[in-house]
Amino acid sequence: MNSRDTEHIIAELNTHNNYTQTTDPKDADLIIINTCSVREKPVAKLFSELGQFNKIKKTGAKIGVCGCTASHLGDEIIKRASYVDFVVGARNISKISKAVETKGSVEIDINHDETNYDFSEFRSSLYKANINISLGCDKQCTFCIVPATRGDEISIPAEIILNEARKSAASGMKEIFLLGQNVNNYGKYFSSDTEKYDFTKLLQEISKIDGIERIRFTSPHPLHMDDAFIEEFATNPKICKSIHVPLQSGSTKILKDMKRGYTKEWFLKVCDKIKAKVPNVRISTDIIVAFPGETDQDFRDTLDVVNQVKFDQIFNFKYSPRPNTPAANLEQIDSELGTSRLNELIELHKTHQDYHMDKLVGQIHKVYFEDLKPNGEIMGFSDNGMQVFVDGSEELLGQIVDVKITQNTRTSVKGVVIK
Ligand code: 5AD
Ligand code: SF4
Repeated sequence: MNSRDTEHIIAELNTHNNYTQTTDPKDADLIIINTCSVREKPVAKLFSELGQFNKIKKTGAKIGVCGCTASHLGDEIIKRASYVDFVVGARNISKISKAVETKGSVEIDINHDETNYDFSEFRSSLYKANINISLGCDKQCTFCIVPATRGDEISIPAEIILNEARKSAASGMKEIFLLGQNVNNYGKYFSSDTEKYDFTKLLQEISKIDGIERIRFTSPHPLHMDDAFIEEFATNPKICKSIHVPLQSGSTKILKDMKRGYTKEWFLKVCDKIKAKVPNVRISTDIIVAFPGETDQDFRDTLDVVNQVKFDQIFNFKYSPRPNTPAANLEQIDSELGTSRLNELIELHKTHQDYHMDKLVGQIHKVYFEDLKPNGEIMGFSDNGMQVFVDGSEELLGQIVDVKITQNTRTSVKGVVIK
């Protein structure tokens, strides 16, 4: 979502303020840091990066801070780093053109409604289009700062999304990546009178667009994986067969304390259903270890789910207390214990990763090539979300071709083009 926000920032500044991009911050008239605040580390990094940019910037160059940390800290950023010219929070990007011209401006209304705003065009990829489908989040997970930085959930009208998708397809992009905090809750809240689609219908309508061959989305919430959605995911050939199913914890007690709304057994059932309907599916997840109150048995429950589902990819996090979230006030777990649990989880996952990736060698997958690497390799993704490298010519870029997998390099694979 931050990548798409950055594209919107660039688009607005290109179109309305005549800025162009430079690769060297020393040349820049304007430096913007787009920030995350989901864990504490990136927030701490912000101030050291700001200091670095302030040292090297051209005389008179402006510095701005955007994104979730902008929403969260607001004018405190300018108080701590007085050389910062403006602060524009997540979902206030439509105000960026004005903010860059207004020294000291702080735009952080977390419920600002940009669902009908006509952003200017800029895409960093020639091959796939990121498209926002909703803003904010309607959940209140007790560890999470996002509802306080990205506000209430509102869906973007389907017609705006479909237009973006049609335009992208017309410019030659074969892949659409739908973005939202809870994509499969799409259609619950609209701020204008618009045709009411749910996520399944949105997927169906996007897949009717000529030229679009692949549809991906992130993040879905396990709670909203109803049978109609799973059926559409399984049977629509344009929907890529990789899915993120964020677990967070395998312990029903911790899930309750996190306010996730499901139990261990319920989560396992959802994964079983998906696997039964989509044999080649790749499932990724997010897991937080050392949430306050997590006992050894709770952690074993998490490992048990990991062992049963055998995720293809896990984004592991040690719990990080976030300001003004309910869990931050609970008694915290010893940091070293958290680190050792994290390491145990990582080691277990490696065995599953090898199990999945070794099986791929010899298989043939359709790969959409999108990047030429400095070492001459061409990189792309298989339908089910595996990163694949081949030796080949630049002509492969933008093509979907069959590749035979020849080698497992653990987080990616190597292969040869067979057609
Ligand atoms: N501490 C650690 N991880 C967190 N996440 C969200 N909030 C926290 C936190 N306070 C993780 C969740 C979420 C992912 C984007 O970041 O796993 O799914
Ligand atoms: Fe945060 Fe939970 Fe919303 Fe995800 S669903 S953004 S974890 S509050």
